[in-house]
Amino acid sequence: GPLGSLEVSVGKATTIYAINGSSILLPCTFSSCYGFENLYFKWSYNNSETSRILIDGIVKNDKSDPKVRVKDDDRITLEGSTKEKTNNISILLSDLEFSDTGRYTCFVRNPKEKDLNNSATIFLQVVDKLEKVDNHHHHH
Ligand SMILES: *[C@@H]1O[C@H](CO)[C@@H](O)[C@H](O)[C@H]1NC(C)=O
Ligand SMILES: *[C@@H]1O[C@H](CO)[C@@H](O)[C@H](O)[C@H]1NC(C)=O
Ligand SMILES: *[C@@H]1O[C@H](CO)[C@@H](O)[C@H](O)[C@H]1NC(C)=O
Repeated sequence: GPLGSLEVSVGKATTIYAINGSSILLPCTFSSCYGFENLYFKWSYNNSETSRILIDGIVKNDKSDPKVRVKDDDRITLEGSTKEKTNNISILLSDLEFSDTGRYTCFVRNPKEKDLNNSATIFLQVVDKLEKVDNHHHHH
């Protein structure tokens, strides 16, 4: 927003479809024109019944990669890098199960901007096969 510079993006797609048993990259990048120090990041999962933290950690500065603090699931790995121009804190989710369907929120908080935080959410739909989908209709 106009008051801060901390931007978080999960890309253009609002829903990602992926096949049961496969792996999927859930994208997330962040940026701040004030820079960052000891930035806190968190991916959380949420469906109608539960909400939980999947992975979280700290990025010390723009010369270091993220340090993972807590990881809730062996099927999750943090991908990307925060040493490049694009601060990439995407996660790879493997061995997908139908119960992985839900909202995935990427959250960051920047102490350098008085703990300004921001987040972005993507919806993952695990399916048994990929149908041809377009932006307007989902054909069954
Ligand atoms: C997809 O899910 C079904 C039911 O949970 C399971 O039996 C099957 O093995 C899964 N397929 C893959 C490729 O994991
Ligand atoms: C899941 O996220 C939605 C939208 O952010 C929120 O309204 C809902 O309360 C959350 N559910 C749980 C169980 O946290
Ligand atoms: C983030 O990193 C992953 C893994 O290296 C890569 O596949 C993806 O394209 C990167 N995303 C961006 C926006 O650079």
